[in-house]
Amino acid sequence: MSNPSLLILPGDGIGPEVMAEVRRIIDWFGANRGLQFDVSEDLVGGAAYDAHGKPLSDETMAKAQEVDAVLLGAVGGPKYDDLDFSLKPERGLLRLRKEMDLYSNLRPAQCFDALADFSSLKKDIVAGLDIMIVRELTSGVYFGEPRGIFEEGNERVGINTQRYTESEIERAARSAFELAMRRNKKLCSMEKANVMESGILWREVVNRVSADYPEVELSHMYADNGAMQLVRAPKQFDVILTDNLFGDILSDCAAMLTGSLGMLPSASLGAPMANGRPKAMYEPVHGSAPDIAGQGKANPIACILSFAMALRYSFDQGEEADRLEAAIEKVLADGVRTGDLLADEGVQPVSTSEMGDAILSALDASV
Ligand code: NAD
Ligand code: IPM
Ligand code: MN
Repeated sequence: MSNPSLLILPGDGIGPEVMAEVRRIIDWFGANRGLQFDVSEDLVGGAAYDAHGKPLSDETMAKAQEVDAVLLGAVGGPKYDDLDFSLKPERGLLRLRKEMDLYSNLRPAQCFDALADFSSLKKDIVAGLDIMIVRELTSGVYFGEPRGIFEEGNERVGINTQRYTESEIERAARSAFELAMRRNKKLCSMEKANVMESGILWREVVNRVSADYPEVELSHMYADNGAMQLVRAPKQFDVILTDNLFGDILSDCAAMLTGSLGMLPSASLGAPMANGRPKAMYEPVHGSAPDIAGQGKANPIACILSFAMALRYSFDQGEEADRLEAAIEKVLADGVRTGDLLADEGVQPVSTSEMGDAILSALDASV
């Protein structure tokens, strides 16, 4: 049987820096655990624009459709601010999500014990936190029509449309209920049914789907209250289901419960392919961090944890994913910190590659 295939798209800014550490981790699993991948690398975002004049070439898009999983670093940066909207780096990422039909974006937020002191919230609010945000990823206001900037009388109007079909809501809801069944059987759905028709439909469809999952305790919350509850008492949640835009915002908010945006991985999953694996792209929640790019300061953990999610969700290697997560936990417990994780002044931060070194040593010690 041939090796599973991985397409790596490092992207821009800190994307290539954190992805370099993931490559070393992938090589470690090849050398030490017999997990060989056929890895290819390509361009996305500003890097692709610089090479081809487009944020994603048709060839790269076709490759992404063929592989078993895509790993993406991050896209974007100030260099591309003035580009035409259709050429912006972010359009490359959105095209991948849309054309691969990756409708279910899993964004786990876990607070590692060693970082509980470091969150901007009090330790007892976040210690032991383990929640999963399921963000609908291929529809909503990100893709709804009409959209654009139009002339209207003597001024311009900017338009985006929040649009959800019942089937789009249903498939995202099912993936959240399935996850809830494998976790603590508790699901909170967030929308704004008080002011948006799409929210009313969302709530109705989620209620309908819940009939197939009678064991799951379902609740609904307006998303603004949800944001407040996430920082007030985040441990009341287990799985949160929400739409594309609210999910974007709520997951950045959840990131700070874990200590840093540099800690949050994600899995963007679609329907099963012929081989039974879901269409999948794994991407950290953070962006290209232009403020620290090129300085070796980036925390590679979000991207490495995204590879752990690939091991778990695409390659049926749950135990190896556990091994990788345990290695990261050990390194954090030993006090190894990139700059974003430093609470105390005077503690020396490690560089991106030194964090990679420490995780590799912990992996070595695990076998
Ligand atoms: P950002 O996530 O890039 O950065 C926000 C802040 O978090 C910055 O201070 C940054 O230094 C810090 N940060 C982020 N990741 C970090 C890491 N791994 N280690 C240490 N610190 C980290 O968000 P932004 O500044 O709003 O956006 C910058 C660019 O990235 C924009 O072009 C945006 O569109 C893009 N972006 C891309 C993605 C993606 O590719 N998935 C996600 C978010 C933003
Ligand atoms: C994310 C990012 C993206 C989004 C951008 C870069 C398109 O913020 O993945 O969280 O808004 O979905
Ligand atoms: Mn975001």
